Amino acid sequence: MGGSMRLDKFLTSQNICSRKEASKLVREKRVKINGKFAPKSDIKIDPEHDIIEVEGNIVAYSKFVYIMMNKPKGVLSASNDKNAQTVVDILPDSLKRRDLFPAGRLDKDTTGLLIITDDGDFAHKMLSPKSGVYKAYRALLDRPLSPEGQTSIESGVTLKDGTHYKPAIISFYNENDRSDVVIRITEGKFHEVKRMFLSAGCEVTALKRLSIGSLTLDENLSPGDARSMTEAEKDLVFA
Ligand code: URA
Repeated sequence: MGGSMRLDKFLTSQNICSRKEASKLVREKRVKINGKFAPKSDIKIDPEHDIIEVEGNIVAYSKFVYIMMNKPKGVLSASNDKNAQTVVDILPDSLKRRDLFPAGRLDKDTTGLLIITDDGDFAHKMLSPKSGVYKAYRALLDRPLSPEGQTSIESGVTLKDGTHYKPAIISFYNENDRSDVVIRITEGKFHEVKRMFLSAGCEVTALKRLSIGSLTLDENLSPGDARSMTEAEKDLVFA
């Protein structure tokens, strides 16, 4: 076979089972490699070419994982941190694997759609201003956004310190409430949404990301919940 990955590691990486369960499945002759029963769970396989079956079902191999999380408040957008709980820490064991990181950061107090992956190229493409991927946020403000404030955010804001934010698209979550705003931006600069609204005299009291590209947060996910994304959902980011 001349493979490059242990069978049990392969099965855990594809979220089929734990390593312990893998050894049990192999012992019970429920795992096949290229049509033959796997002799041991630590045998090396080639994930790109060998056909692995578990209880008769072929395991589709995906090199990278893409996880959708409804980020809760109070959790850091990072892989690990000495002092604070991170979005990777709170993933269920079944989704955990090495090298996961959040593709883009949300502030600690921001909630909503976060993609966690181990695919650096995907994250880079998603975050690159060149890709022009819109991120939509719902922002609750401490006062109604003035029409002038709206116009200024829609034309692009330059702060006193020289930081420039590209034009954003503003709409209102409820027609009659100018303090409940949906804002779409293509950049992701530090505190961008909060600072844009501050420049218009409004403080953001709650911020939730609703979508990235055409991918919207699965509202069945409670804050803190996460699940694997489908291939189609992954493509929606760039649609
Ligand atoms: N803009 C902010 O100010 N905070 C976020 O978390 C995301 C965008």
